[in-house]
Amino acid sequence: MSGPGRPLPTPDAEELRASVRDYYTRRLDEATRTGSGCCPPAATNVVFEAAPTPLPSFGCGDAHALTALAAGETVVDLGSGAGLDAFRAAEAVGPAGRVIGVDMTPAMVAHARAAAERLGLGQVAFREGRIEALPLDDAAADVVISNCVVNLSVDVEAVLREALRVLRPGGRLRITDTFRRGPAVADPATDGWCACVDGAHDPDALAELARRVGFDEVAVVGDAGASGCGDTFSATLCATRPRGGAPGVR
Ligand SMILES: C[S@@+](CC[C@H](N)C(=O)[O-])C[C@H]1O[C@@H](n2cnc3c(N)ncnc32)[C@H](O)[C@@H]1O
Repeated sequence: MSGPGRPLPTPDAEELRASVRDYYTRRLDEATRTGSGCCPPAATNVVFEAAPTPLPSFGCGDAHALTALAAGETVVDLGSGAGLDAFRAAEAVGPAGRVIGVDMTPAMVAHARAAAERLGLGQVAFREGRIEALPLDDAAADVVISNCVVNLSVDVEAVLREALRVLRPGGRLRITDTFRRGPAVADPATDGWCACVDGAHDPDALAELARRVGFDEVAVVGDAGASGCGDTFSATLCATRPRGGAPGVR
């Protein structure tokens, strides 16, 4: 299942994943040649400004705006791309904290790892993997963030279940992404999907799915000042893993 009411551009999920990987490999290559990603970052910071290597943004909003990270926390970034949001998280959690970025595009992971090494940020690690099957232990994270990634997934329900699994009880989920109210695009195109347009979420449907997989305190919050791509808008799904009990379907 692709997610609430979202037809995929192709019935072959592996083919779509490969298209997404190829698309972002090309976008990173372009960005490293031109010096900027597809979207200007919603916010920069010291790490960004001082980066000895380009840190292009492919995000649609500011995954940190509603996150309020504390020193010492462990953060997981779903679809970490070239690493910008992970590096911002590393600054916020400090040397006692930990940040793990997960991305399925090898070129992105390699770029982000090289940047982390040059920046000397030992508390950040990047793992190659899928957000539908995270290479992480249960209850490993205080916070799960993501910026313009989950709309690309062939299985949003699996992504939310995995986020719930890796969050500790009381842990926070902050998924910034592209949204469009109402029915999904009936006949999505692969290019439109890869560009984060044709797979945009309906906010009510995504919030309902998050509640169904077991999250509490679910809300989709508008991202003032950030715009989505095409006719979409950018917003953030905020939710909390319940403090008691094991994750489970409601
Ligand atoms: C639009 S870019 C956003 C990158 C980054 N979050 C940023 O803001 O710059 C989408 C990223 O998600 C990754 N991605 C897409 N689908 C994924 C999946 N199912 N599992 C892991 N990574 C995925 C892509 O490889 C790409 O790096």
